[in-house]
Amino acid sequence: MRLVKLRRATEPSASLAPAHVSVNGSVDLVDRTERRVRYLRISLLDRCNYRCTYCMPDEPMEFGSRDEVLRLEEVVTLAAAFARWGVDRVRLTGGEPTLRRGLVDLVGNLSALRTEGGGPLQVVMTTNAERLEPLVGPLRSAGLHGLTISLDSLDPERFARITRRGNLVNVLAGLDAAASAGFDHVKLNTVAIKGFNDHELAALAQFAWARGVTPRFIEQMPMGGGATFMPGEMMTAQEVRAAVADGLGAVVVPDEGDGVRGRGPASYWRVESGPWAGRRLGTIGALTENFCASCNRLRVSATGQLHGCLARDETGDLRAALRGGQVGDVERVVQRVLVTKRDAHAFGLDGRGGPRKAMMSIGG
Ligand code: 5AD
Ligand code: SF4
Repeated sequence: MRLVKLRRATEPSASLAPAHVSVNGSVDLVDRTERRVRYLRISLLDRCNYRCTYCMPDEPMEFGSRDEVLRLEEVVTLAAAFARWGVDRVRLTGGEPTLRRGLVDLVGNLSALRTEGGGPLQVVMTTNAERLEPLVGPLRSAGLHGLTISLDSLDPERFARITRRGNLVNVLAGLDAAASAGFDHVKLNTVAIKGFNDHELAALAQFAWARGVTPRFIEQMPMGGGATFMPGEMMTAQEVRAAVADGLGAVVVPDEGDGVRGRGPASYWRVESGPWAGRRLGTIGALTENFCASCNRLRVSATGQLHGCLARDETGDLRAALRGGQVGDVERVVQRVLVTKRDAHAFGLDGRGGPRKAMMSIGG
């Protein structure tokens, strides 16, 4: 068994002074296949208060030490550079981002940044919502645009089983607070799992719609070398839509009106009949409905490694470039990652072909 090394991924002061190396150069954020990067996902720490069964094994984990994790001022420096280069949306992820001290200040600082076009940088966050409720007001006031909340079951016992640590009461309180806080959008993310929550998907969708929240269902991906992936459990996006339609007793059709594709990997669908007619749901067919051709994103891990792809292990070391580097090193790292960003992932339905990294290290 590996040694547990749980040091806090926070810094002594939340002052957001500039990082070591300023980033003044320019990068054209276009990869070899002409995909333009407009969206940056930043993991704020690699720890989580949950241990979702499909995300990681329930054994002691070795997390990045405090020095290895990017300081908040480094996060702001990077986000400012990417915003100048054409990124217009930043998503904060984890592990679990609400565990990061200084989160609200960070959101304030990021929201004050300007994009290449002069508009405000949109800041959004993905969370398991266990600790969200008291943070909702401060985050909204700090300028957070939107929230995505992960929730796989509305049954307390089943919820506890899948998260291994979670308390559904806290999550629902966070979700309700978020739904009524006036965000541009609140989304609910559910990983669909056969034999676990397949019979609950319509109820989850209804639960979301009743609160003005958009439900999205994700195909389980074989992260972490496939260690937590059970091929028989994976529910395809098509099966998800059929299950929701069946549960509602309604027809679900592509949402042509607003464009089936959102800004990201989800395709959007609309209920055509019955009491929920007109409501939308998203499905993320990571394995069976490949969306790599329209990929518009890069990811920064908590330890400052730039990932071209969720499903690949190639990275570039932004932290080293920021801390010890020469002027121009950050730009060179970004350029190199863009050049090595692959055309598509290689996730297989048998659980092979995924990356060694765990989802928790990069936050989806
Ligand atoms: N496959 C699909 N989604 C996953 N998530 C975590 N692990 C996996 C996986 N193996 C989801 C979480 C959360 C988002 C960040 O990623 O449930 O919604
Ligand atoms: Fe669950 Fe997300 Fe935490 Fe993984 S990172 S254990 S998916 S809440």
